[in-house]
Amino acid sequence: MQPMHHIISTREYTKEMFDEILELAEKLEPIAKGEVQSKVMDGKILALLFFEPSTRTRMSFETAMLRLGGQFINMGAVEASSIAKGESLSDTIRVVSQYADAVVLRHPREGAALMASECASTPIINAGDGAGHHPTQTLLDLYTIKRESHLDNLNIALAGDLKYGRTIHSLCYALSRYHAKINLVSPPELRLPDRIVDDLRKRNIDVTITTDMEDVIEDIDILYMTRIQRERFPDPAEFNRVSNSMRITRELIQTAKPEMKIMHPLPRVNEISFDVDDTEHAAYFKQAFYGVPVRMAILCKVLGMEDRIREMK
Ligand code: CP
Repeated sequence: MQPMHHIISTREYTKEMFDEILELAEKLEPIAKGEVQSKVMDGKILALLFFEPSTRTRMSFETAMLRLGGQFINMGAVEASSIAKGESLSDTIRVVSQYADAVVLRHPREGAALMASECASTPIINAGDGAGHHPTQTLLDLYTIKRESHLDNLNIALAGDLKYGRTIHSLCYALSRYHAKINLVSPPELRLPDRIVDDLRKRNIDVTITTDMEDVIEDIDILYMTRIQRERFPDPAEFNRVSNSMRITRELIQTAKPEMKIMHPLPRVNEISFDVDDTEHAAYFKQAFYGVPVRMAILCKVLGMEDRIREMK
């Protein structure tokens, strides 16, 4: 196993690399729930730099660090930082990476995390770079699928904004390592980019493409829904045309398998009806919790603590 320094994309991860993090996360779940205390990160500091809004990613990293006995520093709002005076991202990274043992970065520009990793003196963890990648979300998505369903012989529908959805882009490559059957469900304007479909097919993944959820709802194990992201559309008129084109309702899922689970990276706007929340299918709030043990596992890996976790009883 290669030492893991930066976490920029999971595209080239092997199944063994994914499995290793998922196993670590499982060991860490009692600490994530506060049932067991840990000081494994005592003396360590995590820096959080978020240039785009976030609730789950930012706060689950903060919780992960605190539950492990470490501390975090947060740049706070971009307007309150020296970015507002014109400081470049690379200068900010050069400075902040001297203040902390690892840096979590979310940025609207695709490739920002990779660029940051080239000028940082500590590991960079990509918390989302524009429409590029969101690798820590992918890891928690895999963990959710493993805990709430199964990763082997998985039949999954990826739905919503497949064009701009970075969680979808990262997850596709990860699912290919488990030879999942992938059904892509979106309006034609929001189809998964051809280069990713081609990559999946080159990896011998069975990919189907449809605009209608009813084509696949009876067969799937997981329905992974995503928000149509207003902020990624260059043309507001294009967003208005597609914004209400997909919605998961109780009626739609009536013919689904009883064990079919619905996931969503959140936030949702109106793409899953609120009355789906109290069905056995809804797994999206559990998925948000699983961000804590998975991000604990990522921090342990990045900061070289994984052997101490494995030795835990
Ligand atoms: N899933 C996710 O990235 O959520 P946040 O934008 O709230 O971090």
